[in-house]
Amino acid sequence: MAKKGRVFSGIRPTGRAHLGNYLGAFKNYVALQDDYECVYCIVDLHALTTVEDTLNLKQNTYDLALDMLAAGIRPEETILFVQSHVPQVTELHTILSMVSPLGKLTDLPTFKDMVRQHPNNVNYGLVGYPVLMTADIVLYKSDLVPVGIDQAPHLEFARETVRSFNYRYNTKALIEPQMKSAEVPKVLGIDGKEKMGKSLNNHIELALTPEETRQRVMMMVTDPQRMKRTDPGNPDVCNVFTMHKTFTPKEDVEMINVECRRAGIGCVDCKKRFAENLNKALEPFRARRAELAAKPDRVHAILEDGARRARAIAEVTMREVRAAVQLP
Ligand code: TRP
Repeated sequence: MAKKGRVFSGIRPTGRAHLGNYLGAFKNYVALQDDYECVYCIVDLHALTTVEDTLNLKQNTYDLALDMLAAGIRPEETILFVQSHVPQVTELHTILSMVSPLGKLTDLPTFKDMVRQHPNNVNYGLVGYPVLMTADIVLYKSDLVPVGIDQAPHLEFARETVRSFNYRYNTKALIEPQMKSAEVPKVLGIDGKEKMGKSLNNHIELALTPEETRQRVMMMVTDPQRMKRTDPGNPDVCNVFTMHKTFTPKEDVEMINVECRRAGIGCVDCKKRFAENLNKALEPFRARRAELAAKPDRVHAILEDGARRARAIAEVTMREVRAAVQLP
């Protein structure tokens, strides 16, 4: 079947994937494979911009590949590869930096956030982060980039950079990418307040055992107004209920919706049910993950093959880019 275009996305290797990664990104990446030619990149060079992500980089890169494959990325069709395995991206990054206004980069909300979070490590690479991201996207002549809304400023930057480059060098070598926001709900952590993430330790890792998963689920914060079992609850403000909507059969969701409001079901019971359904949903993922984890050579071979295919596309683009800027 003819595919509709090329999708590209980059994922930072920040350790084992959690439920937020799965619902917010992987699920969508897997679905896109049906209609698009997909290129998914584990961005290890981007990870080097922050010190925490630099630790265990190799292991985190491998773990992420394992998690993505287990989640359903199909490496026979999709190109799954590691950013640093395609050195052309750093060359393109340098060339694109010449059409990247410094003021625009330091004005980006994402840059300002990083400065706030890491005041002692405001490095040059951090300023160039969006330039490297642009290089990722355009190196593969990508049409669509599925990313969360937090990445919108970076996508806009990429589009402007493509226009500046093509205009300055009078070329059509680079393609302006479109952002593709998936309609995914913000996945909250077990604290029920903040977005699920490893740094806040409010996450539920996908690769936990069923028992460990149950323990994490039992720690989830429910409707804070519901103090006692006999108090009626409000599912509309309860993160456990929100998650039930994704993992629990419809009739049961409706039952919980009704029973919670009249104190017919307690939070402990409700969470036990959620843990069961979540564990059931994660079963195929865990089975595939265990199978792959037993064959690390296979995972490395997949990444090597992905890199080889990615380099072939990258080199075609770079020939056009070098010609446009009059480099040999
Ligand atoms: N900046 C993205 C993030 O933090 C990761 C990323 C790097 C990316 N390169 C990319 C996303 C290219 C999409 C396309 O999530």
